[in-house]
This record gives sequence, C-alpha cells and structure tokens, in this order.
Amino acid sequence: MARQLTESKLVLASHNQGKLREIRELLKPFALEVVSAGDLNLPEPDETEDTYQGNAILKAKAAATASGFPALSDDSGFELMAINKAPGLYSARWAGPDKDFGLAMQKVYDGFLASGSDNRHCRFVCALSIVWPDGHDETVEGIIDGQFVWPPRGSHGFGYDPVFQLDGYDQTFGEVDPEWKHSVSHRAKAFEQLLDRCFQDTKKVN
Ligand code: IMP
Repeated sequence: MARQLTESKLVLASHNQGKLREIRELLKPFALEVVSAGDLNLPEPDETEDTYQGNAILKAKAAATASGFPALSDDSGFELMAINKAPGLYSARWAGPDKDFGLAMQKVYDGFLASGSDNRHCRFVCALSIVWPDGHDETVEGIIDGQFVWPPRGSHGFGYDPVFQLDGYDQTFGEVDPEWKHSVSHRAKAFEQLLDRCFQDTKKVN
C-alpha cells in the first residue's frame, strides 16, 4: 500500500514558473497549503541522476529534508525520436543560462535536419515524486506522444509547447487553451496516477 498524503502542507520542489502554475492548478481541489521551494529560499540541487524518476526523487528529497514537509517534484523533458530522444533529460539545459527556449527549439530542428530522418514522432515525459522528510518516496511517470512541428506555433504554455502537437489534434500546445493542455498533458497523466496512489485520504476543499 502506497503512503498517503495526510499532511496539510506540501512544498513544490521546483523553480520553473510554468511547471509551478500547472501543478498548483492540479492541486486546486485539495485543502493543502502549497508553498514553492522558491518561497522558502531552498537551493536548487544539481540534477545528477540519469532518469527522470531519479531526478524527481533527488529534487523532492532535497526540499523535504530542508523544509521538514513532504515535497512534490517534477522532472520532465521533451524527446524527439529522430535525434535519439534528445534533448530528453537535458531539455532545460538546451535553453542555456538565459532559458531561451527559442534557441532550444532551434537546436532540436537543426538536429532533426542533420539526422536526415523524416520521423517527427516526439514525446513529453513527466516523472512526479512525493518525498517525505523521512526519505520515503512515491514516484510515478506519465508520457504523451505527438508530432514535432516546425516552425513553432503559438505563445501559450512554456518550454517546447510551440513545437509539440498531440497525436490526433492539429494545434500545438502553444496554441491550445492552457486549461485543456493541463487536462491531457504528461504532467496530468502522471498526476492522475499520483492521485490514485497517495491522495485517497487528502482533505478536499469544500
Ligand atoms: P527539468 O524537469 O527541470 O529538468 O526541466 C524540464 C524541461 O522540459 C523544461 O524546462 C521544459 O523545457 C521541458 N518541458 C517539460 N514539460 C514541458 C511542458 O509541459 N511543455 C513544454 N516543455 C516542457
């Protein structure tokens, strides 16, 4: 039996505003005091693991240990099959120190052209982990499949959203209503699993 989240306060172990917005939205039905690692001035640990789940656990563990509260972390990435699932774990780093995702998307396109492949199959992957201050973790993963679109389209969302078109749809995540994205995203899929596992006893907003 997975551990249940019965505490009333949860730390979001992320400094990424786009992710924080989406996760806060997903947590809205619950009577939880949600604070971010940034609010608590917690440092951002280096992502040294070689899997999304490993990095999610590492980040949540650092925040739970430093704060004394359970912490929820997301580690996610964009993968293009034609370039061996790059940028993958390095999705944030491809944007450089200025977090320039125009540059990151251009690098993906350059790699795609250089590959000579016409395979536009791509995915978003999201690992979510809750770690408690005693080190226990519950960790899940969600994946969605799509097509790599060039040039980028739309100004909603964040990161690689303007080049990702969910299979079965003709708009990119940069073009769709953010609420809709939040209901079908890799993060939403992972979150559904986390709800099943850990939120059965969590108090809801009346
Ligand atoms: P990390 O999990 O902090 O290593 O960063 C993951 C990176 O993957 C983000 O900075 C984005 O570039 C990308 N990414 C993850 N989820 C999404 C998404 O929902 N839309 C667009 N880009 C995403």
